[in-house]
Amino acid sequence: MNILLLMSGSIACAKTTGLISLWSKKGHTVKVVCTTSVFQFIGKATIEGLSGNAVISSIFEEDNMMEHIHLSRWADKVILAPATANIINKIAAGIADDMVTTTWVAALSLNKPMYIAPAMNSMMWVYPATQESILKLQSWKVKILLPQAGELACGEVGTGRLMEINDIDKIFTLKINKKDKHILITAGGTREYVDGVRYIGNLSTGKTGAEVADYFSAIGYHVTWLGAINAVQPHLPCSKVFYETFKDLADTLKQQLQNNHFDTIIHAAAISDFSVCTIKINNQDIIACRKTKLPTSDSMELKLKRNPKLVSQLLQWSKNLHIKVVAFKLTNTDDSTKRQKAVYKLLRQDGIDFVAHNDLSDICKKNHPFTLYISESESIKCNNTQNLCKQIDLLQQDTILTKDKGVKLL
Ligand SMILES: Cc1cc2nc3c(=O)[nH]c(=O)nc-3n(C[C@H](O)[C@H](O)[C@H](O)COP(=O)(O)O)c2cc1C
Repeated sequence: MNILLLMSGSIACAKTTGLISLWSKKGHTVKVVCTTSVFQFIGKATIEGLSGNAVISSIFEEDNMMEHIHLSRWADKVILAPATANIINKIAAGIADDMVTTTWVAALSLNKPMYIAPAMNSMMWVYPATQESILKLQSWKVKILLPQAGELACGEVGTGRLMEINDIDKIFTLKINKKDKHILITAGGTREYVDGVRYIGNLSTGKTGAEVADYFSAIGYHVTWLGAINAVQPHLPCSKVFYETFKDLADTLKQQLQNNHFDTIIHAAAISDFSVCTIKINNQDIIACRKTKLPTSDSMELKLKRNPKLVSQLLQWSKNLHIKVVAFKLTNTDDSTKRQKAVYKLLRQDGIDFVAHNDLSDICKKNHPFTLYISESESIKCNNTQNLCKQIDLLQQDTILTKDKGVKLL
């Protein structure tokens, strides 16, 4: 494959040289175009030595004046990595005042597959112009290889690290066309109303579901996010559907699955096990109603009824009988046998292909690891949500999926 790598001036330039070396070793031809700031971080000799090709950084090179057009035509795929805040905002604004931006504009207009791997300090990443530019570029079908959370070069912790080289490689060199893949993600927590102003809820924020939705949108999937009304919403554009109660969620899920072809469902919503059945105030039976506010009294008794498990009904509702179902299991025990037992119980249910497990004790502000169970004998440790998504993507893109045999990476 002819890979055109556009580089801009970030501390992550050194990390990106790993891509040049990896792709050259894999037999791809890599040509590199740089902004002049790149040479503040790495030398021309490194790039030329690894790629085996001359690096270009000026539009006005003698005898090579039309190189931005030739290179755009030559490339099978184009990647801008690392992409600085500066360059992202420039290309989103249509500025073409150096070799990188001019080549980018030409290649995008030629409908080449375009990728961006941003790398920057987290404050530069959340800057409104950067965020708007990313959305704009995504709407132009550019695939965004989202930066990761973690320790940044400046020593701060936040989102902005260049995606790991191996992950960029996997996504960039994947041959399967993902634009026809439709994924449904449930997120956030249900509310079970007691009356018009009170409800029983849970602490789910929907952050994981939003991150999952963004990951799959960024790599080109068609995403439907079915989220709680108060949940954190995905950042990148996708179809959004809202729910409030268990019943809403059940009805909407059924309707979505019956009417659309989904390849995968990632069922991350935190669903109440119970809903309100009857209410007694000062020993008197009251009929629950969402239109009223029950009076404050000395005592209130709520009788709850068990809600059915939605996850075991997904396959039955699904129009696509080959849908892949990813269920989530959160445990709260130190005992690894008990954890496994809970995961295996879910994994053995009909229609559940994978289980993403974590224990309450593993989760903190900085860390949100998962173990993705493929079968009782195969599991993958994922140190964060993005890593979990990557594994789910790989499993469904590049694998022979048969529940009995487990999953084999090709
Ligand atoms: C040590 C150092 C590290 C930098 N790292 C980044 C970075 O990771 N991301 C970024 O957007 N800008 C970074 N910058 C700022 C850019 O280099 C600067 O905005 C430059 O103008 C970008 O030029 P270019 O986009 O044309 O390559 C860094 C600057 C310095 C001095």
